Formats: sequence, structure tokens, C-alpha cells
Amino acid sequence: MTRRAAVRALFACAVAVAAAACGDTAPRFRHTDITGADYAKDFALTDHTGRKVSLADYRGRVVTVFFGFTQCPDVCPTALAEMREVVEKLGPDGQRLQVLFITVDPERDTQALLAQYVPAFHPSFVGLYGDAAATARVAKDFKVFYQKVPGKTPGSYTMDHSAGTYVYDPQGRLRLFVRPPPAGEPASVSAERLIADIRLLLGGA
Ligand code: NI
Repeated sequence: MTRRAAVRALFACAVAVAAAACGDTAPRFRHTDITGADYAKDFALTDHTGRKVSLADYRGRVVTVFFGFTQCPDVCPTALAEMREVVEKLGPDGQRLQVLFITVDPERDTQALLAQYVPAFHPSFVGLYGDAAATARVAKDFKVFYQKVPGKTPGSYTMDHSAGTYVYDPQGRLRLFVRPPPAGEPASVSAERLIADIRLLLGGA
């Protein structure tokens, strides 16, 4: 190759890279691409085995983060059951997915309760908690709303909370926001949508 041809080849390559960065070949995610968002970047919490953890502890895996509480009657267990379906349908790639469940009810969701509840959906799932201040901090960082709704007795309150899921790529970068599935949609349909996006991220998208 002549020097001029080499320069031309380099230039063509640079154009191709720029085009890719501009989005011509951007991955087609089913869920909302929030790559580069300046929130929900990290957390400092304790897992259900008592280990202090942050996002870096799950590097190398696609990570999903969902906020909820163990006494939630339907939204949280439905979301966790759907994630079990996702992990199982991913087959061997399921080992490269880490599902995290952050409690917004640390008052009742003790480490022991989380250790019992979260892995019951799938042994690889991890429950995370902090004290009241740490919970408020992580919810604020993640733009997650939660609020106690009083019940008939002091201990019987329930929690209102946002139900979206954040998805991180294996490098620990926030990439996607997953809204709760539309009412009436079969879990298998929303699971397939998420599986498609997770496969893109595992493939380096
Ligand atoms: Ni819930």
C-alpha cells in the first residue's frame, strides 16, 4: 500500500468509527436507552449475606436493579418472577446476568428476610439494603420514589414505590431503563423483550 492509500484507508476507518458513534449502527434496544445519564451511577449498600457492595462488585455481568419491598403484594413478586424467566431463558448466558433487588422498606426487610425472599425467586438473585439514610440516598440518586402508606396497625403499612428497572452493561455503565410492562401483557412477552436487550449488551453493544 502506498503512503497515500494508507492515509485514505485510515481516513475511511475514522469516518466509519464516527458514523458508528453518531448512531447509524447504534444497537436497537427494545427499552429506553439512557446511556450517559448522570444519575443511578452507583450505590453503597449491604447484600443479603452481609457484604458491603457497590456496582463494581458485579463487573463483567449485565446488572439489573429494581427497587421494592418483600411484603409487596404484586408488582415486586411479578417483576422478580419475570427476571427468573429471563435468567432461565438466557441459558448459559444467564450466569452473566446479575439481578439486584434494593429494598425501600429496610425497617421490615432485614438481612435475614431478604436472604430468604430474594434468592427464592432464583438462587443468583441478590437483595440489597441500607439503613434509612442510605436508602433515602440511593433512592434519590436513582430518581426512585417511595413512600410509606399507613395501614390499620403501625406494623401493617404498605409502600408506594417506582417500579422501573435499571440495566447496566458488563463495564458497569448505566444503559437502559425498563418501564413496568403494560397491564395484561403476558410475562413471557416482556421477558423476551428484555432478553433481546440483555443479549445485545452481553454481545458488547
Ligand atoms: Ni412492589
